[in-house]
Amino acid sequence: MSVPKNANHKAIIPPQHVAIIMDGNGRWAQQRFRPRVFGHQAGVKAVRRAVKAAIEHGVKSLTLFAFSSENWSRPENEVNLLMQLFMKVLQREIKLLDKNGVKLKIIGDLSRFSESLQTQINKAEQQTTNNNILTLNVAANYGGCWDITQSAQQLAQQVAKGELKPEQITEQKIAQNLCMAEQGPVDLLIRTGGDLRISNFVLWQAAYAELYFSKELWPDFDETCFENAVIEFSSRQRRFGKTGEQVEANS
Ligand code: IPE
Ligand code: IPE
Ligand code: MG
Repeated sequence: MSVPKNANHKAIIPPQHVAIIMDGNGRWAQQRFRPRVFGHQAGVKAVRRAVKAAIEHGVKSLTLFAFSSENWSRPENEVNLLMQLFMKVLQREIKLLDKNGVKLKIIGDLSRFSESLQTQINKAEQQTTNNNILTLNVAANYGGCWDITQSAQQLAQQVAKGELKPEQITEQKIAQNLCMAEQGPVDLLIRTGGDLRISNFVLWQAAYAELYFSKELWPDFDETCFENAVIEFSSRQRRFGKTGEQVEANS
C-alpha cells in the first residue's frame, strides 16, 4: 500500500491522539421518522468503524464522547435507554476489542452509574489492561470542567495533608491528575453533526488540538470521513506559538 499523501504532497503523519464528539444520532433517527434511540444504536456501528480506522491509521489513543455530564438533563426515557445500550455494547464488544489489542478505559465520574454497570466497567478495563495497539477512552458522565475540578481536589487534599505546598501546584501537577494523564494530549478533535462547539469535552487535554468539524451525522461517519479528517490534520501547520518560519526551519 502506498503511503497516503496530503494536499501538500507530504506523507501523512497521523495524529497520536484523536478525540471525537459523536453528535447527530438523534437527528439521524428523526430524519427516518424513528425514535432517537434508533440513532444511538446506529451510532454503535460508527464507533466500530472509528476504532478500526484509528488502528489502521496508527493512532495510539482514541477518545469518544459517549455521554456528557450535561446529558442527564435529557428525558429520563432516553437516559435509561442510553445506559442499557452502553451496558449491552460493553458486554458484546469487549471480546473483539481485546482480540484487536485495544485497551479500554472509561473516563468520567462513574459514581453516578449503577453498581452493576460499575462492576462491568472494571471487569472490561481489567481484561484489556495489557493491550497496547490502541487505547480507547470512552467518556461517560464526563465533563471537561469536572475533570479539572477533580484534579484540583486531589491536589487540595495533598495540600491539606501537608504533602504539597500551594506554590508547588503547577500546570504539570494539574495535568498529572487529569483523566488520561498517562496518554499524550489530544492532537485532533473531531465533532460530527455540524455544530461548532466543544460542549465541555476534553478542555485541558485539547488546549492545542486541531479542530475538525464535520457536517456528517455520527451514524454516517465512516472510514473515509475519518481518513479525510486525518488528511486535513496532516496538512495543518501546528505552530505551538512559534512563527511559521521557525516551524518550517525545523521540519
Ligand atoms: C450524540 O447524539 C449522542 C449523545 C449525546 C448520547 P445526539 O443524541 O446529541 O444527537 P442530536 O444532536 O440530537 O442529533
Ligand atoms: C455532546 O453532544 C455530548 C456527546 C456527544 C456525548 P450534545 O448533543 O449533548 O451537545 P450539545 O448539548 O448540543 O452541545
Ligand atoms: Mg447532540
